[in-house]
Amino acid sequence: MKPFKKLFPLFFSVLLACSCASSANTDLNIEKKVAGLLSNMTLDEKIGQMTLISSTDLPLDGEFAEALRKGQVGSVINEVDPARVNALQRMAVEESRLGIPLIVGRDVIHGFKTIFPIPLGLAATFNPTLVEQGARVAALEATAAGVRWTFSPMLDITRDPRWGRIAEGFGEDTYFTSAMGVAMIRGYQGGEPGDPSNMAACIKHFVGYGAAEGGRDYNSTNLPERVLRNVYLPPFLAGVQAGAMTLMTSFNDNDGVPMTGNRFLVRNVLRHEWDFTGLVVSDWASVNEMIPHGFATDQAHAARLALEAGVDMDMMSFAYVGHLGKLVGEGAVSEKMIDEAVRNILRVKFQLGLFDNPYVQEDVHREMFYKPEHLELSRQSAVQSVILLSNDGTLPLDADKIRSVLVTGPMADAPHDQLGTWVFDGEEQATVTPLKAIREHYGHRLRVLYQPGLKYSRDKDLSGIRKAVEAARTVDVVIVCVGEESILSGEAHCLASLDLQGTQSELIAALKSTGKPVITVVMAGRPLTIEKEVSLSNALLYSFHPGTMGGVALADLIFGKEVPSGRLPVTFPKTSGQVPLYYNHNSSGRPFQGNETMLDQIPLKAGQTSLGNTSFYLDAGAAPLFPFGFGLSYTTFAYTNIRIDQVSYHQNDTMTMSFDLTNTGKTAATEVAQLYVCDKTGSVTRPVKELKKFERIALNPGETRTVIWNLPISELAFWNLQMEKVVEPGQFALWVSGDSASGEPILFEVKK
Ligand code: GLC
Repeated sequence: MKPFKKLFPLFFSVLLACSCASSANTDLNIEKKVAGLLSNMTLDEKIGQMTLISSTDLPLDGEFAEALRKGQVGSVINEVDPARVNALQRMAVEESRLGIPLIVGRDVIHGFKTIFPIPLGLAATFNPTLVEQGARVAALEATAAGVRWTFSPMLDITRDPRWGRIAEGFGEDTYFTSAMGVAMIRGYQGGEPGDPSNMAACIKHFVGYGAAEGGRDYNSTNLPERVLRNVYLPPFLAGVQAGAMTLMTSFNDNDGVPMTGNRFLVRNVLRHEWDFTGLVVSDWASVNEMIPHGFATDQAHAARLALEAGVDMDMMSFAYVGHLGKLVGEGAVSEKMIDEAVRNILRVKFQLGLFDNPYVQEDVHREMFYKPEHLELSRQSAVQSVILLSNDGTLPLDADKIRSVLVTGPMADAPHDQLGTWVFDGEEQATVTPLKAIREHYGHRLRVLYQPGLKYSRDKDLSGIRKAVEAARTVDVVIVCVGEESILSGEAHCLASLDLQGTQSELIAALKSTGKPVITVVMAGRPLTIEKEVSLSNALLYSFHPGTMGGVALADLIFGKEVPSGRLPVTFPKTSGQVPLYYNHNSSGRPFQGNETMLDQIPLKAGQTSLGNTSFYLDAGAAPLFPFGFGLSYTTFAYTNIRIDQVSYHQNDTMTMSFDLTNTGKTAATEVAQLYVCDKTGSVTRPVKELKKFERIALNPGETRTVIWNLPISELAFWNLQMEKVVEPGQFALWVSGDSASGEPILFEVKK
């Protein structure tokens, strides 16, 4: 379907007239209620619904209470005391003219009280089912506190670990992010319709935010429409199709248009092409920020631009409540446009059952928090999120053979930082750190020494290293936990260098100099450039801030009670200078071959030549340190007999493929089998590989399983030169393997 850019003016008015939830996916009973309520609302009450405020600590009397009683607030966020939530709700419901309930929002990003691995860690599980279960736990705990709307999942694709918010998404792959995002939405919204444990998801940040130039948060993005449609938009479409109830516009300007004022992408694509009937909320003050963007002259102009773009609710700009009434009076905006926004807001409130049941039970939340089954799910998620990046056989440790370990490093006992970014309600007292877990679960079988070595990840004081080295000399094995304090990733926390902070690398080197086996654990919010630390370690486990139960997970993985199965959802560069570096890149006309003459191999007085040159860095090549999808286990796997049922397909066919997967080692373990496809020639250049399927497969030692996968050829469609989404006929290749860099290609053809 061709986008409607050219017809926009006519289209815009037509769209407005008939977009009153024409979608089949709206409940007609709710539509009648919405229409009935809307017809009774004053303009002020309508604009009130479009206003979201963060009400933490606002006094329950005075101006705020008056605004609630006048129906001038549609949503409050950052309220997590059930009694206070009910007090606010009573003012809105019982003391206002129309009794419209508030929707209470919060950033519940990877758990509420029971904290799960950060989303990048949840991604590393390659386990959508587990991610959905974790999101359901988050919903159960958060709704018990009165929260009914979470600003999650973040569906921003990013290829730049310098960007602090890489921690908050599912990595660099479109198909994968779509699968993980849908899982989270289902978890949040998963109860029966109207179930008080349902929490409205908010897919964010629409769109392209993760492509900030230079990996610097809030910076401009310059994504052409085709790249948006092929890479950045599909996870949001998947979220809309999965029934996400709300969506948040992003801070960035893309191709010069701030997303909070982007009519084409919000009204045309999201509303008309995708038929989204949910609530669109701005990001925090992003309406106002169109002024410093240089896109709005003042707040009234910003309010008009945001409304015209299709933003229903204004988060913390106070632009709507400050100017829409006057703008309507001046005829600068139509009340019809306001009605459309309010309709979307009321629809969500009806869908959540807030009109029938606006209050939260005030006495159940404490028993809901940290339930044993919640903590166990967090532990399982942490176990499956850890990626074994290197191992010379030192792991797993046998607690009956070794007599002593030293646990050291700034992240060995860091209950706050282990929880990761975007944690408001999780409590560090509940965190089980690696030190605590090793002491509690293995301390009766071996001697456990502890020396912090460094006080925190940025610590530059070398004095603690000496004590750690002295202790290391007295034990059989050293476990050193390094990485990032939680505040070093997340919103606005971007890094130009991805090297380990402080003197952590010096700590690892000093421990290595003792000659004892060194197991390195990295807990971070992003990929770090750890080539040196890998070479210094006998084994290295990578854990994207693993949450409340991360220490138990790491201890059980180190001592073999659990087997690593995590896989990388993002590429690990050798150096930040290689960034952006991602597996599903285009080929270029001179693709990197891997046999290039590197910096130190160039002869003196070498003559200038451009012949035979390819796309790479003299000082870093073009290969990553670790590729997307990579992860080791305590066993090995073999892929054999990879077959496809035909050599050529028509566009409406479904390919059936099969392969044998064998556990060729001595340990029961889980492999993440991955399917990649390359469209070798297109009307526009295509990625060298794209993930099209993945599956966790558990096998006992020596066991072989024949796996059968179906791939509809339609899933090879892309937005082509004519900006049509089609499968173009031609030659394709596919790989079935355990990561994006291995396996042999199998060729097939698609015919018209
Ligand atoms: C922040 C973030 C957004 C979050 C919102 C509310 O600035 O960009 O992801 O949901 O404000 O806290």
